[in-house]
Amino acid sequence: MKAIQLEKPQHFRTIDLAEPAAPGAGEALVRVHRVGICGTDYSGYLGKMPFFSYPRVPGHELGVEVMAVGEGVANVKPGDRCSVEPYMNCQHCFPCRRGNGNCCETLKVLGVMMDGGLCERFVLPARKLHPSAKLSLDQLALVETLAIGCHAVNRGHPQPGDNVLVIGAGPIGLSVIEFVKLSGARCIVLDLNPQRLAFCREKMGVKHTILSPGDGSELDELKQLTDGALAQVAIDATGSHRSMGAALGWCGFTGRLVYVGITQQEVTFPHAPVMHRRELTLLASRNALPPDFTRIIKLIEDGKIDTQPWMTHHATFEEMIGVFPGWLKPEAGVIKALVRLE
Ligand SMILES: NC(=O)c1ccc[n+]([C@@H]2O[C@H](COP(=O)([O-])OP(=O)(O)OC[C@H]3O[C@@H](n4cnc5c(N)ncnc54)[C@H](O)[C@@H]3O)[C@@H](O)[C@H]2O)c1
Ligand SMILES: [Zn+2]
Ligand SMILES: [Zn+2]
Repeated sequence: MKAIQLEKPQHFRTIDLAEPAAPGAGEALVRVHRVGICGTDYSGYLGKMPFFSYPRVPGHELGVEVMAVGEGVANVKPGDRCSVEPYMNCQHCFPCRRGNGNCCETLKVLGVMMDGGLCERFVLPARKLHPSAKLSLDQLALVETLAIGCHAVNRGHPQPGDNVLVIGAGPIGLSVIEFVKLSGARCIVLDLNPQRLAFCREKMGVKHTILSPGDGSELDELKQLTDGALAQVAIDATGSHRSMGAALGWCGFTGRLVYVGITQQEVTFPHAPVMHRRELTLLASRNALPPDFTRIIKLIEDGKIDTQPWMTHHATFEEMIGVFPGWLKPEAGVIKALVRLE
């Protein structure tokens, strides 16, 4: 069975893997049809992802078909097409027992800390499969990216009419935007890249964008847009410690700030005059929960999320190693690249 392995940074190769064993109790054997590529894969390729270890078969955004199920599996059957929740949790630790498997103490993400889906077939716990008879395979592979935004917006809990500032309009920011729009809040997007802001306006229906030159002028623009109230909810999806620190100043009184982007650097911000005085709430957002997957599948099925603007690039399994470095170039304009296995 073929797989693509990232042997070490910047070195993909096609390898032969042994056929997976028959699924055990509670498990399913799946055939992989689509693999979405995201920032985590690009960082892993460049050797810049601290949670990534090598060699590794990547692939955590998956559209799969069930081939066989083990004893006791009731949620899926052979032939079902599914999205995969790639967060392998222990089910026993404190957060798992509290229903927060998204941040299990020993969480392993498929394709990041363990071999993932860039292969023909593999076995996984069936409880990680979310079936849909209506979604295309591309859409099934997109569900995980959307789940990151869904969870982040849930953490921020915006109310209809709130001003929600989304900082960073990369794929994670875009997935946040989808759920801000659904919340009935007013979406304002800030980025330093004018092309990304143009994409938000032209393809995502965002009305208000702020180009941030990093000189403080963004605060004035935000004040104008919000009648001085600033953001009731801000969600930082940049991965930049700079904007993560500055973002507290973009939150209004009693505002909530969610960090969905991740930085290895320290984040600093003024406490007394900003965080304390405005009584802000600071939240992290990690991965997503099973109900997020169910909700997103239903939203796409009902036509409430348009996945069309997302699907910008495709390659076959055979083409992927050759075209992958090109997807990293900003001028390629990749939002979501998908690898097809037939
Ligand atoms: N919470 C999670 O579970 C989770 C899951 C996946 C990815 N992530 C993280 O989300 C972040 C975003 O991922 P992505 O793939 O969208 O990245 P990306 O690099 O494609 O997008 C980041 C965007 O932020 C903008 N930006 C950077 N610095 C900025 C600044 N100082 N001010 C304003 N805009 C700025 C960039 O121009 C870019 O458009 C990353 O840190 C990634 O690791 C988190
Ligand atoms: Zn991803
Ligand atoms: Zn756990």
